[in-house]
Order: sequence, then C-alpha cells, then structure tokens
Amino acid sequence: MAHQLPELAIPALRFEGASVVHRGQTLLQPLTLSFDGCRRTLVMGPNGAGKSLLMRLAHGLLLPSAGQVYWKGKPPRQAMVFQRPVLLKRSALDNLTYALAVSGTPWRSRKPLAREALARFGLSPLERRPARVLSGGEQQRLALARAWLLAPEVLFLDEPTAALDPASMRAVEAAVVDFHARGTRILMTTHDLNQAKRLADDVVLLHEGRLIEHSDAERFFTTPASPTTRAFIDGDLIW
Ligand SMILES: Nc1ncnc2c1ncn2[C@@H]1O[C@H](COP(=O)(O)OP(=O)(O)OP(=O)(O)O)[C@@H](O)[C@H]1O
Ligand SMILES: [Mg+2]
Repeated sequence: MAHQLPELAIPALRFEGASVVHRGQTLLQPLTLSFDGCRRTLVMGPNGAGKSLLMRLAHGLLLPSAGQVYWKGKPPRQAMVFQRPVLLKRSALDNLTYALAVSGTPWRSRKPLAREALARFGLSPLERRPARVLSGGEQQRLALARAWLLAPEVLFLDEPTAALDPASMRAVEAAVVDFHARGTRILMTTHDLNQAKRLADDVVLLHEGRLIEHSDAERFFTTPASPTTRAFIDGDLIW
C-alpha cells in the first residue's frame, strides 16, 4: 500500500508469561504484555522494579527464564540507548562513523552524516574528544546521535535523561519527539512523571518485578485501574 501508516508497518512486540529468574530468585514475575503500533510507551516504577530487565528482554539482550518474548512479524531494525551509555574508546566522531560502517554506509558519506548528527545533538565542538571523557550528559547525547544515524524502527531508551540538566533533558525529549515523527516506535523508561505526561501514548507500571498496569497515558494519569498506580502517581509508593 502506498500510504501505509508507520504504525501498520511496525510489528507488535509480545511478552507471553516472560519471567526472569536468577539463582533461584525471581526478578521479573511472568509478564504478559503487548506493545502495538508506532507509539511512545513509557515504562515506570521505583528503583529495582524491573524496568531495565524488561528493556533488555524486549531488545533481545536477555532471554526469559520461562515464557516468550517475540515480534509478531519480521523483527524490526532496533537501537538501544542504555542507562549507562556504551561507547567505544574513540573520538565522538569516530563512534558515529564506526556505527555507520557497521551498518553498511559507504565510507564517503560516513563523515558528513556523522557530522550532521553531531550538530543535531549539539556536539559539533566535541567531535575530536574521546567519547569516554565526555560528561554523562554529553555521552547520553552521543549515544542518541548514534541511534539517530541508524534510523531504527524501534528505539529503546533506558532512563535517557536521568543525569541531565534541564536544557539537555529538553533536547533529549525533543529528539524523542523527532524520532517518533520519523516513524520510530519508542519504548523508554523514566522516573519523571512530568516527562511521562509530556511524552507517553501509553504507560507501563512495574513494581517489585510485577506488572501493575499498562494503560493509555490519559487513563493512567487520570483514572488508573490500580490503587498501586494511584499511590505511585501521588508519590506514595516508595518500593
Ligand atoms: N544480573 C543480575 N543479577 C542479579 N540481580 C539482578 C541482575 N540484574 C538485575 N537484577 C535485580 O533485578 C531487580 C530489577 O533490576 P532492574 O535493573 O530491572 O531495575 P530498574 O527498575 O531498572 O531499577 P532502576 O530504576 O534503579 O534502574 C533489581 O533488584 C536488581 O538488583
Ligand atoms: Mg534501570
């Protein structure tokens, strides 16, 4: 179909009774969830709730101990930005040209494209600096620039703004909006309720390794199905 909407093009991601058990300890209770369409899903919950585990399962970095995690269709092109960015011992620019090389971009276009992405994320003056000496916020933006270049159909972001100043946080949020506008499906964790209100189409709440609720954002914030969600929104749910 010539005018197929992005949300029809991205296959759904399904969790069916997917759990994570480590040394006899259940870290994630059997989880059944479906992520459909080209939406922005925000995953929330206190520290240790299982958000990063869910993201790693979704991205295929971790296999469930039981149950299944699968795409209903051809697995889409994916990128992940980790809670602690993973960068190569190279300059900021070379981190990007390397990612382009791996993805098969002809060498002539690598530098121009990488520089465009550095500019997009306000990193042009830092292009020669070793990525590993960049500040936390700069590293986070470099990781996003790398993801931007790969034009993923699905982007996983694990607390991309946790350590950022307000301006950098806004820049990351704007990037999330731009990714989505380009047709990228977003799955992102955050501790920031206001950020979730600004960005989310739907929200998943985890608590102690359990799924508490998965609702459309409006419902989640106004008339949640679970009293635990209410407590979380009111700031009364500690862990
Ligand atoms: N490799 C591992 N070995 C043992 N325990 C683990 C491992 N990975 C995660 N856990 C435990 O599983 C639980 C969930 O971890 P997870 O990283 O998913 O939490 P989170 O919701 O992302 O928390 P935060 O908000 O602090 O990032 C935690 O109690 C953590 O200690
Ligand atoms: Mg985490």
